[in-house]
Amino acid sequence: MSPSSEETSSSLPLHVGIIMDGNGRWAKAQGKNRLEGHKKGAEVARDVVHWSKNLGIKQVSLFAFSTENWQRPKLEVRGLMSLLAILIPKTLPEMMHLNVRFRTLGDISPLPNSAKKSVKQAVEATKNNSGIDLILCLNYGGQQEILSAAKNALRHALLQDNPEQAMEELNPTTFRELMWCDDIAPLDLLIRTGGEKRISNFHLWDAAYAELYFTDVLWPDYSQEHLELALEDFKARERRYGLTSEQVQS
Ligand code: FPP
Repeated sequence: MSPSSEETSSSLPLHVGIIMDGNGRWAKAQGKNRLEGHKKGAEVARDVVHWSKNLGIKQVSLFAFSTENWQRPKLEVRGLMSLLAILIPKTLPEMMHLNVRFRTLGDISPLPNSAKKSVKQAVEATKNNSGIDLILCLNYGGQQEILSAAKNALRHALLQDNPEQAMEELNPTTFRELMWCDDIAPLDLLIRTGGEKRISNFHLWDAAYAELYFTDVLWPDYSQEHLELALEDFKARERRYGLTSEQVQS
């Protein structure tokens, strides 16, 4: 079950999604190779779960590998996959201690066996934890997620006596139930580090009413203070969901 909005104060995002951008530039600035940047980025990813839990956030999703990232240089892809294979089991005791439920979003089937094994073990070991959900987006693409739901909807409709009516009955709520993110709360706050201002195929459906926050800080330099700044900024936003400001206030 995903937490409901009543479980968290409305001034605090329930679900924070982060596009962890800037590892490569950070490494270059330090005279290091890109993988060193990802390694440091992975440490910050671990830290951000601690900070998020301490700050009362219930779900944090991290964009670790997109469907498009396979096109990066082979060495970099291999390095990222090894990081997953090594770091997930290494941080498992910490996740258990912090009561983290580890999950993934995306199609993990094409991942190398070692990475898949680490992921599956961590998902299984942490499945009853309830302190915070860490959702690692792996081989994830928002368009692919929507497309897969559309295919499911079509398959379902074609099996009905009246496919046309089944299609008509679809609405945003029933369609979302067919998506991978079904039991994850919609995104409240989307943070992107590294200075670019785009969503890059991350949580496309669920970012519909997310507040967007962009920072120039490169991911390996991201700190708890930076996260707190983003939360402060979020607190000051008026979430209108298509209503007028007056309607929301009353
Ligand atoms: C974007 O920075 C970052 C990625 C594509 C990978 C993010 C992965 C991590 C932070 C490691 C996660 C690993 C674990 C085990 C959680 P970039 O490479 O595009 O940076 P650049 O824009 O400066 O080149």
